[in-house]
Amino acid sequence: MSSKSSANVSGSKRIAVIPGDGIGTEVTREAVKVLKAVTSGSRTKLDFTEFDWGAERYLRDGTTLPPDAAPMLRRDFDAVLFGAVGDPRVPSNIHAADILLGLRAKLDLYVNLRPVELIDAALTPLRDRGTSDINFVVLRENTEGLYVGMGGQFQRGTPHEVAVQEDINTRKGVERIIRYAFEYAREHQLGRVCMSDKSNALTYGHELWLRVFSQVKDEYPGIESRHLYIDTLVMEVVRDPGQFRVIVTCNLFGDILSDLGAQLAGGLGLAPSGNIHPGRVSLFEPVHGSAPTIAGKNLANPCGAVLASAMMLDHLDLRPQAEALRKAIRAAVHEKHTTVDLGGTLGTREAGDWLAEYVTKNPR
Ligand SMILES: NC(=O)c1ccc[n+]([C@@H]2O[C@H](COP(=O)([O-])OP(=O)(O)OC[C@H]3O[C@@H](n4cnc5c(N)ncnc54)[C@H](O)[C@@H]3O)[C@@H](O)[C@H]2O)c1
Repeated sequence: MSSKSSANVSGSKRIAVIPGDGIGTEVTREAVKVLKAVTSGSRTKLDFTEFDWGAERYLRDGTTLPPDAAPMLRRDFDAVLFGAVGDPRVPSNIHAADILLGLRAKLDLYVNLRPVELIDAALTPLRDRGTSDINFVVLRENTEGLYVGMGGQFQRGTPHEVAVQEDINTRKGVERIIRYAFEYAREHQLGRVCMSDKSNALTYGHELWLRVFSQVKDEYPGIESRHLYIDTLVMEVVRDPGQFRVIVTCNLFGDILSDLGAQLAGGLGLAPSGNIHPGRVSLFEPVHGSAPTIAGKNLANPCGAVLASAMMLDHLDLRPQAEALRKAIRAAVHEKHTTVDLGGTLGTREAGDWLAEYVTKNPR
């Protein structure tokens, strides 16, 4: 379901690399280093092509996302590895919205898959919780909702100002992400899907979510289904995270919930995500942003980018190599070969070197 299976004739996979801004460039460099190491002995090679879309380019010549970017990526690449975008020199971050939200929309990457997996019990802020208690995925609808940019402002800057932001929920959009959640649960034998909305207050848009969920769940009698309002869900995720396996929700709630999940599992430095359209070119990135305050200081944790790379390898059907990356991250965390945010002493580059060396010595 999640795999783009077509190896091209040369036995290589073509990867578009968009490092972006700030620490995005630093962690992506390390991820590419580790990816080269893990595939060096494989029959399938990775072919990397880097694109300079980000703040520097925008400030230089006004380019955000070139008009032909999406068709070119679809035509010429198997996957996209993304760093992060956002730069204080671009106050509105117009370039970031154009590039990342633009790619999600134009490549129709309707699934935002964010695994929340605690690797080491010492990393969670929750008391008395272990690795088996925190292991679920958040599936965030990625192309609709409040993020489509529909709306406007009237009498801006006056006392009579009005701001409107539209929440777009289509039958097609809601149904395909809910169906993906059940398919994901079935494929990974996770047994349970929880859909979360705010249909008690958002009685039009989220009533659609509730209605579609109650229809789709009937097609999956082997999978336990449950509905929780988002305010109840966040309380339950903190109180007893072990009850969840697959959570599916709208764009805004998924965005917030997955950052909560990231903290439960050790922080933003460890959190990966996939922006996926099953069977098509998809984009993989760490959950974190460009972190301007630590950029350029060799402080950023590259683990989120490396785990996102593992998700990319899964998507490309390179599963043994994906597992080798996850094994390396587990070893780095357990043995404290990490950056300072996880209690280690390594810099970004040194953490990347350690992971690259580990996968070279332990390719499977
Ligand atoms: N997908 C993306 O490209 C994306 C996502 C979130 C934010 N952003 C953008 O990034 C910029 C900064 O946003 P923010 O500060 O809200 O979020 P952020 O994720 O960049 O940083 C939040 C906090 O986490 C820390 N942090 C993040 N990643 C880390 C890592 N790998 N290692 C160690 N510490 C890490 C930062 O130092 C900061 O204290 C903004 O312009 C924002 O719009 C982009």
